[in-house]
Amino acid sequence: MIILDGKKISNDIKNEIAEQVKRMKENGEKVPHLAAIIVGNDGASLTYVASKVRACERVGFESTMVRLSNTTSQVELLDKIKELNENSDIDGFIIQLPLPKQIDTQKVLLAVNPDKDVDGFHPMNFGKMALDMSTFIPATPFGILELLDRYNVDTQGKHTVVIGRSHIVGRPMSILMGRKGFPGNSTVTLTHSHTKNITQITSQADIIISALGVPNFLKAEMVKDDAVIIDVGITRVPDDTTEKGYRITGDVDFENVSKKASFITPVPGGVGPMTIAMLLKNTLLARERQM
Ligand code: GUN
Repeated sequence: MIILDGKKISNDIKNEIAEQVKRMKENGEKVPHLAAIIVGNDGASLTYVASKVRACERVGFESTMVRLSNTTSQVELLDKIKELNENSDIDGFIIQLPLPKQIDTQKVLLAVNPDKDVDGFHPMNFGKMALDMSTFIPATPFGILELLDRYNVDTQGKHTVVIGRSHIVGRPMSILMGRKGFPGNSTVTLTHSHTKNITQITSQADIIISALGVPNFLKAEMVKDDAVIIDVGITRVPDDTTEKGYRITGDVDFENVSKKASFITPVPGGVGPMTIAMLLKNTLLARERQM
């Protein structure tokens, strides 16, 4: 069994990006600038955005964090997006999800200039992705592809089962694994809350990508020998023995599933750090495209 070490690979990627930024600076070029909008005070979202800002500093990007209150109206948020769309110093920006309930997420994502949509959530970019055109690929699926690529995990002709059809992970992942090329060329089954007999399906999978958000959902009995297991779950589970009072738990019963797997991602230290590295990669791409 081989651990797909997202922490290590994301560090490699950040080092590669930092090298590129150094060269940009030496050539007197503008360095990439990422902005992140966060609405409200959700603890997990604040932590993620803080990590994204820290990652920018680490590679030499400029970053701007825009914090808006929980009671921000849709109009106020759309005004802020317009401002970032028009600010030529900002190469790319993201709006951290989920948004408070008074805000229509789809309207908000549509308002982002597709050329600055480094999350790849705008329908134009999502459509390009589905049509094999060059575009911003959503960071978590992009990070999973990169992990599979760097560990030379064979995906061609394999049966990939994706658990969860979210717009951020499951849906794009199912499209990407079935695309022509590597990693891809997989036969994909997308499972969700209405799927019947999920164990029957997962136990036939060569590759399982679980993006459900239910701790320890995927048990050893649901997995065949030598399967590749990608765990996208990052649920905070209360734990008094830790300093923070919680621990991060994946969708996979790692202790037992890892005994059967050929490759497996740990939580934490698997997919999570890759998401941030690929957001940086998309921001670098956005800057390069402006040049
Ligand atoms: N919330 C959970 N994952 C993501 C992500 O990749 N991007 C944004 N903007 N919000 C998220």
